[in-house]
Amino acid sequence: MNLNVLVLPGDGIGTEVTREAVKVLRVVAEKWGHQLTIREGLLGGIAIHKTGTPFPAETEKLVMDADAVLMGAVGLPEFDNVAPEKRPERGLLGIRRAMGVFANLRPVRSYKALLDASPLKNELVDGVDFIIVRELLGGLYYGTPRGITGSGPEERGTNTMTYTRAEIDRVVRMGFELARKRRKKLTSVDKSNVLETSQLWRKVVLEIAPDYSDVTLEHLIVDTTAMQLVLNPKRFDVLVMDNMFGDILSDEGAVLAGSIGMLPSASLGAKKASGVWTGLYEPVHGSAPDIAGQGKANPFGAIGSVAAMLEYSFGLGEEAAAVTRAMEQVLNSGKVTADLRPSGTPATTEQMGESVCQAL
Ligand code: IPM
Ligand code: MN
Repeated sequence: MNLNVLVLPGDGIGTEVTREAVKVLRVVAEKWGHQLTIREGLLGGIAIHKTGTPFPAETEKLVMDADAVLMGAVGLPEFDNVAPEKRPERGLLGIRRAMGVFANLRPVRSYKALLDASPLKNELVDGVDFIIVRELLGGLYYGTPRGITGSGPEERGTNTMTYTRAEIDRVVRMGFELARKRRKKLTSVDKSNVLETSQLWRKVVLEIAPDYSDVTLEHLIVDTTAMQLVLNPKRFDVLVMDNMFGDILSDEGAVLAGSIGMLPSASLGAKKASGVWTGLYEPVHGSAPDIAGQGKANPFGAIGSVAAMLEYSFGLGEEAAAVTRAMEQVLNSGKVTADLRPSGTPATTEQMGESVCQAL
């Protein structure tokens, strides 16, 4: 198979973690006889530095020519006080929109070898295995009007939370489809006791539900969900929610996995004629400028994202499973990066990547 992949390392530790993920991809391609083409592009702060904009037209062209995109992370502290439209993060919102990836899949699972890395009790975490499906192209992140107007005590910040029926329908169906292939349970998360967007959300979910009568549906209010995620996380199989709730709750999921460095993600849009998705794959963690360039970053979020790419964009389930098994094998050998607080010397980003390649 031809694997035509665009890599956008972005900022901070994005460069280091994608480097290891690409090594893994090369080993997979070689072992299974796939033809791998890697191109690189600019996104985020580095793109602002080199071109003046966080999502340059040149990058957009590369995106359109690729079968799948692997992204590192975006964000640099020097832009902390800059207006949202000039920030590196805007590049990420731009690429998500350009690719039309409306569903962001964020799997959260526990690894036996990492149970002690979570501050939660082992028995609570052991066996956790759920997927957060985060709506990625709507809600507060994109709604208009937005901005800061006026001055003095009347200076006002505005964001708009808005969803159409169509936007809700497509992401909720993705949630149902995933649940159907797993333990057949879908939790729809909203704030329908307060928000109109959530009331429409719940209405659409209830309308769709009969199409998936084999899936058990529950509705859960977002604040309760935040609590349940740490009280009883094993009750969850697939959760579907809007953009903002998904952003917040997926970071909470990181506590179960031991570290946010462990979490991969896959952002999917419409299926291609060939039946596979054009996907954007990125670790859930950010650019972590405080540890950038020191070889401390955990590349497993990025490597897990490569496994997701193999599965969803290329339909290579066997290769994807092999990458996941290799990651498990490395963890079982006791090797982990500093974020997982090992008792001995932490492994470097590169050592983790090399170990996965060897295990493969
Ligand atoms: C994430 C990140 C991004 C988001 C930022 C960097 C724009 O936090 O992917 O979770 O909020 O979507
Ligand atoms: Mn986030």
